[in-house]
Formats: sequence, C-alpha cells, structure tokens
Amino acid sequence: NMQTSFDKPVTVAVIGGTGLYKLDGLSPVAMLDIDTPWGKPSSPITIALTKSGDPVAFISRHGRSHQFSPTGVPAQANIAALKHIGVKAIISFSAVGSLQEEIRPRDFVLVNQVFDRTKGIRPSTYFGDDFVAHAMFGEPFDVKLNAFISEYGHIMEGEFEGKKSTLHTAKPGKDLTVVCMEGPAFSTRAESQFNHRNGFAVINMSVLPEAKLAREAEISYQMICMSTDYDAWRESEEAVTVEQVMAHVKANGHNAERFCEFLLDPLVAKVKAGEIGNDLVDSMKYSVSTAPA
Ligand code: ADE
Repeated sequence: NMQTSFDKPVTVAVIGGTGLYKLDGLSPVAMLDIDTPWGKPSSPITIALTKSGDPVAFISRHGRSHQFSPTGVPAQANIAALKHIGVKAIISFSAVGSLQEEIRPRDFVLVNQVFDRTKGIRPSTYFGDDFVAHAMFGEPFDVKLNAFISEYGHIMEGEFEGKKSTLHTAKPGKDLTVVCMEGPAFSTRAESQFNHRNGFAVINMSVLPEAKLAREAEISYQMICMSTDYDAWRESEEAVTVEQVMAHVKANGHNAERFCEFLLDPLVAKVKAGEIGNDLVDSMKYSVSTAPA
C-alpha cells in the first residue's frame, strides 16, 4: 500500500551515501518518482514518517543499487526534486577517508568547510550563461544545522581498536575541512600527504556540487562524514583490506541510522518552528548579476 504521491510538504530530507541506502528506523509511506528539468534523481524519493508522524524524505545519492559514480550523480535533479516537495533542510551522509590521525575509522566528522579538488566536469550550478548569479559560499554548511547535529555525538555506538567511535565537531579557530576530489580512483600518497599537511580533516568525492546546489536552492545543508579509511598519507604498518573497509562501512551505516532515528523528529520540530531552515530564504535574489529583461 505504498503511495506514489504525497500531498503535504516535506521539510526535512536525508541524502544517504555509501553504507546508508534506506531509512530503516522509520516507516515508509510513499515512494515518489519525480522528474525535474534536470532529469530524474538518483533514486525514487522515499517519504517516511518519524516517531511523531512527521514526514521526512530520503534519497540514495548513488542509486539504490549504487549505480552512479561520484562524477555521475545527478545532483541537480536530486536537489531540485527535494526543493520541489518543500524541503528546507538536508542532512547528507558521506563515506570519507581520514587525513588526520585522531579521526579514526568509524568516527563521524561534522565538517564545516570544503576544499574543491574536483576537475570542473560536474554540472554545479542552476544558472546558465545568460543568467548570472553568484551564491555566497564562504560558509558552505548551515551553521544552525551544524550546531543542532553537534549535540548528538552521544548516540554514536561501537568502537575501533578499543576506542569508542566519536563525532568530531569544529571548534572556534579550528575548521574541519572536507576535500572533495574527482575520483573515481583514490589519491596518490603525494596528494594525500599534501592534504594531510594542509590540515584538512577528511576527503570524499561527493560533497560537491551537492552543497553548492543546495545553497543555490536556498536549502539549509549539512554533511555528516563517516570515516572508512586513512586514505594514503600514512606510512602505515600494514595494508588496509577490503574486508576491513566493508566492516567500517557497515558500522557507519548503523550509526547513520541512529542519527536519523534520534535527530529527525526534533529537527522537523525546529524547522516547523522556523528555528532552522530559514536563513537562506531569499538569499539568491541579492546574488543575481544579470539585469532584468
Ligand atoms: N571515500 C571514502 N574513502 C575515501 C578516500 N580515501 N578518498 C576519497 N574518497 C573516499
């Protein structure tokens, strides 16, 4: 009895990355097959109800059978589809490599900065050549959404080599930066050590253009990074195996589901109350450079 439409606005969405392909803790009520001017999103949009009965949306970034490479993700369609159903705040998850010793496999990182190392081959704006607009992106994530999520570190479960898995949060004067590379191959040791020396926290292939498009769509956006490996910078004792990484992905998926289970209810309440998800409303109208026709 899954509906194919949903008539109430859905204000909060989750974008799942590697390891989070559906929202298991919540009850699905509708499956939306949305088409946008930028094409179809990477998966149908699942609408699920939180414990208090509020609808939230879920979309799987790489598709339900992981058919989209990071370069091929239809990010414009994904964000446009979420905008279309009324979304004001997005929490996205992404598997990342750690660039610093203290960020251990299975730790989560609430990044607050982005460094772009993609190759410029991904469509990364809704604006064309005859309509120019420059979104502000100095603060690439929503500060209020970040602060809200940062209160939930205690729900992290599990451990790695005897140390409890934790949620890392940025501190004043100490940014947590995610480097976004093109891929699909991982970094060389030289590139990885360069990123490590620059003090960047983690690396992935997915935060861009997703975060930029959410900004242009005036949607509050925060990514939660899930560490699966130490990338290539470490002069490591032994090589990482695929089995180890898969076990980390699985453990991370469990914690990602816990975040969704515990945080979506209170987040929807805050969005409803206008406390989160409103800061970007009308921001783009001050960013348009082209004169009206
Ligand atoms: N995603 C997960 N691990 C990664 C790594 N080491 N580099 C880039 N993207 C990643």
